[in-house]
Amino acid sequence: MGTEPADFPKSIERSALQFLQRGCMATVYRIKSQPAFVIKLQDTTYHHNEKRVYERLGRHPRIAAFYGEAAVQQSSDLPSPGLLFGLVPNGTLRETLEGDIGQSRAKRPGQVTLWSAQLLDGLSYIHSRSVIHGDFGAHNVLVGLDWGLVITDFAGSRLDGSPCLAGPSPAYRRPTLVLPPDAPGPCEPTEGDDIYAFGTVLYEMSEGALLYRAITRDSVLASFTAGLYPDLSSMSALPRSVVLGCWKCQYSSARRVAGALGLS
Ligand SMILES: Nc1ncnc2c1ncn2[C@@H]1O[C@H](COP(=O)(O)OP(=O)(O)OP(=O)(O)O)[C@@H](O)[C@H]1O
Ligand SMILES: [Mg+2]
Repeated sequence: MGTEPADFPKSIERSALQFLQRGCMATVYRIKSQPAFVIKLQDTTYHHNEKRVYERLGRHPRIAAFYGEAAVQQSSDLPSPGLLFGLVPNGTLRETLEGDIGQSRAKRPGQVTLWSAQLLDGLSYIHSRSVIHGDFGAHNVLVGLDWGLVITDFAGSRLDGSPCLAGPSPAYRRPTLVLPPDAPGPCEPTEGDDIYAFGTVLYEMSEGALLYRAITRDSVLASFTAGLYPDLSSMSALPRSVVLGCWKCQYSSARRVAGALGLS
């Protein structure tokens, strides 16, 4: 990638950044002089949590590549701490599944199987490092130039059993997960919650469309609580049974999901 962490300036002027994307909690910028990297700015609580999680995770082909932190100098204000990542150029899996090119990619023979293997490899690794993602979903998966997937956004994740700073998004949330009364707030999802969320992602990759196209955002939790799942009849038998298995919390680990899909 050319530049390595040691070469990075520890302080970057705000004018050296170019807006790339905004999430619910953070803003991500390109660094004009370093086109292969981005910097993520967010509230300091999330910043410190995410830094600790990436330090635990280290480098893995299915985890966004983390290059440490740098301070962004904004005129006369105090510098804002930012986290440096390698640029993953094709946007999120969510955006991919919303677009025509991505949908046709998802329909290529073997593509969903490959993507599933990559995501389950990533989840299995995360869990082996005592991390629960806690907000896994197509919005927190990035697509590389080679269409390979990497998992990102550990800002609210659990490390060594600490509470998550924010819960999973509704489409990816196990209906029985206990949320704090003042949600969004700390909650305690498990490996099973990440696996539940993978079930929704597998559904979305297989259908080439987001769950919200089949079921409205407001009714998703109520419907799933009542065991009313979207129509899965167009899916082939194996992924359909695995999606339902994830939603019904039948797998004890990501590796077992991979086994059920015939991936290991
Ligand atoms: N390494 C990266 N390369 C390219 N784009 C990225 C990268 N990291 C993040 N982004 C973009 O920035 C957006 C916001 O990043 P991120 O998901 O980390 O922030 P967030 O505000 O915590 O998100 P959320 O809305 O899930 O809470 C992502 O959805 C993605 O579009
Ligand atoms: Mg995100």
